[in-house]
Amino acid sequence: NRTIAVTGSASGIGATLAALLTERGDTVIGVDLADADVVADLASPEGRAAAVRAIAERADGRLDGLVTCAGTSIPGPAMVRVNYFGSTELATGLQPLLAASSDGRVVLVGSISGTQPSYAPLVEALLADDEQQALERADEVVVAAGHPSQIYPSTKSALAQWARRTCVAPGWADAGIPVNVVAPGVVLTPMTTALVADPQMKQVMDAAVPMPLHGYAPPAAPAALAAWLVSAENTHVTGQVVYVDGGAEATLRSADH
Ligand code: NAI
Repeated sequence: NRTIAVTGSASGIGATLAALLTERGDTVIGVDLADADVVADLASPEGRAAAVRAIAERADGRLDGLVTCAGTSIPGPAMVRVNYFGSTELATGLQPLLAASSDGRVVLVGSISGTQPSYAPLVEALLADDEQQALERADEVVVAAGHPSQIYPSTKSALAQWARRTCVAPGWADAGIPVNVVAPGVVLTPMTTALVADPQMKQVMDAAVPMPLHGYAPPAAPAALAAWLVSAENTHVTGQVVYVDGGAEATLRSADH
């Protein structure tokens, strides 16, 4: 019986994953703003620290997995606070508990957007683990008409880079802990309901994220991959960004050399 913490467990991908893991026999510690085992606001350092403490209390000295699904697509500082630091600080804070397991695993939820243009100074501040600086850089991001904000891609691209660096840093590979990123294309969850319902938004999104294989994904698609990556069966996959995107990344990058 494995104990897995899942953030964003009250909705969408996180809720689907929590149900899948429970069905498989794992014990899930759900973390969210409401309707969760651990109610915490991952937008602030205090909220993250409280979440780490509350997970530790329930985990009984050992945590077998962490999957960070909590995130927001509302442009602004919450993307920096929740998408990035809500993932990295939780993983770092829970590392001792994960290392206490014989099969600790970490999965962060990124996005196909991580391959799209990002704002380099913001990515740099995120990877420097400087939240204040990152919030200031995010403030500088100018949104050009007809283009999506670069804050979201920046947080997701930085998460991917964080996973690559962290997985081989002391305390992770040497403690037997793989760290991977699941990067979905468009997934039908409350996050995208309004987007796909608006013909104009849908057109922009379909051009940015073409999904020739099976179209928009159900939340079970990324959840099933996360469930495997966080399982004891995953012994050697680490530092990877695995796209669950119906061929979007392949389409966008097939012209690259
Ligand atoms: P969702 O909106 O259905 O669920 C997100 C959950 O995160 C919610 O339960 C929400 O309460 C929680 N959350 C938000 N802010 C929080 C905070 N400050 N503290 C604690 N919990 C907080 O969204 P969905 O679609 O399930 O997204 C999950 C992850 O997948 C996000 O990181 C998102 O960026 C990513 N993603 C989603 C895609 C999509 O098309 N739906 C595509 C690519 C990535």
